[in-house]
Amino acid sequence: MASAILGILLVLVPLLLSAEAQARGNLTLGNSLTANDQNSPLLSLSGEFAFGFRKMGQGAHLLAIWFEMIEEKTIVWSVNGDDLAPEGSKVQLTANRGLVLTDPRGRELWSSNLNATGLAYAAMLDTGNFILASASHVNSWDSFSRPTDTILPTQQLDLDAVVRARYYEMNYSNGRFIFRLQTNGNLVLYAIPTPLVVSDAYWATGTRGNGFRLIFNQSGQVYLTDRNGKLLNKVTSEEVPTSVFYQRAILEYDGVFRQYIHPKMANSSSGWAMVWSMVFPSPFKYMHEYEPRYWY
Ligand SMILES: *[C@@H]1O[C@H](CO)[C@@H](O)[C@H](O)[C@H]1NC(C)=O
Ligand SMILES: *[C@@H]1O[C@H](CO)[C@@H](O)[C@H](O)[C@H]1NC(C)=O
Ligand SMILES: *[C@@H]1O[C@H](CO)[C@@H](O)[C@H](O)[C@H]1NC(C)=O
Ligand SMILES: *[C@@H]1O[C@H](CO)[C@@H](O)[C@H](O)[C@H]1NC(C)=O
Ligand SMILES: *[C@@H]1O[C@H](CO)[C@@H](O)[C@H](O)[C@H]1NC(C)=O
Repeated sequence: MASAILGILLVLVPLLLSAEAQARGNLTLGNSLTANDQNSPLLSLSGEFAFGFRKMGQGAHLLAIWFEMIEEKTIVWSVNGDDLAPEGSKVQLTANRGLVLTDPRGRELWSSNLNATGLAYAAMLDTGNFILASASHVNSWDSFSRPTDTILPTQQLDLDAVVRARYYEMNYSNGRFIFRLQTNGNLVLYAIPTPLVVSDAYWATGTRGNGFRLIFNQSGQVYLTDRNGKLLNKVTSEEVPTSVFYQRAILEYDGVFRQYIHPKMANSSSGWAMVWSMVFPSPFKYMHEYEPRYWY
C-alpha cells in the first residue's frame, strides 16, 4: 500500500512541477523545459511570444524565441544552432549560472554563462525579450542584449553588439555575415574573414568616433544615435503602425539586412511582407571600414 502511494506520488510530482514550469510568462528557479513532443513553451502574458524548443528534425531541437500567434511561428532568437538538442534535453534555470541547456546524458550544450547570485525567475516579455531576474526584479541577463540574426521594436544595440546571419534558411548555425556596431562607432556589414579571404565592410555608416547606439524604436524605425541620443543615421526609413503589425529586422543568410511586417490578426491570410531592404553596394566604396575582431 505504502509503495503504491509512493508510486503515485512519484508519477504526480514531476507532472505538477512541469505544469508549473509551463505557466504563462515565468520559469521559476530550478524548473525546466524539456525538448519533446509534449512540451509546451513558455508564453509571454499576451501570448504573442514564446520561449522553448523548436523541432528542427527527427529528435533535434533548437532552443528559441518565436512569434507564437502567427502561422509561420517565425524564430527571432536561438542559441544552439550548431549543436541541436536531442529529444529529452532540458533547459533549466539555476540561481548562479542562469539558463543551462543539457542533453539527456547531462552534457552541457549551452548556458547563459553567468556568474550571478540569487536568480529567481526567467520571464518571456511581450516585447519578445527574455529576461533572467532576481526576486527583487534586478535583471542579470536578457536576450535583447545578445541578439542572433534578428532585432525587434524596442530593442537596442550597444557598442560591440553583433547581429550574425544564420548559415542557411533552415540551418541555425552561425553564418558568414555580420552586422555590427563596432567599438569605434562605425556601424558596418561584412563577411567574416577566413585565413584565405580578407574581409572588408560592404556597407557602413561611416560614423567612426560618433556612433554609440542602434535603436529599433516603437514605431518601427531603426536608427543610429550618438552618445547624447542625437540621430546620426537612419538605417530604415519606413514608419509602421506597430499596433496592427508585427515587425522584425533580420540579417538574412545571404548577407542582406531586411525589415518585414506581418498583420497581427491571427486569421490574416497575408504573411510577412518586406518593407525595407539594404541594397548590396559596391564593396570597394567601403574600404577600410572594417575593424578587426577576434572570432572564436
Ligand atoms: C514572474 O515572477 C515575478 C516574481 O515572482 C513576478 O513579479 C512577475 O510578475 C512574474 N511575471 C509574469 C509574466 O508572470
Ligand atoms: C564568480 O564570482 C565570484 C565573486 O565575484 C568569484 O569569486 C568567482 O571566482 C567567480 N566564478 C567564476 C566561475 O567566474
Ligand atoms: C548546418 O550547416 C553546417 C555547415 O555546413 C553543417 O555543419 C551542419 O551540419 C548544418 N546543420 C544542420 C542541422 O543541417
Ligand atoms: C522613432 O524614430 C523616428 C525617427 O527618429 C521618429 O520620427 C519617431 O517619432 C520615433 N518613434 C517613437 C515612438 O519614438
Ligand atoms: C478575423 O478575425 C477578426 C477578429 O478576430 C474578425 O473580426 C474577422 O471577422 C475575422 N475575419 C475572417 C475573414 O474570418
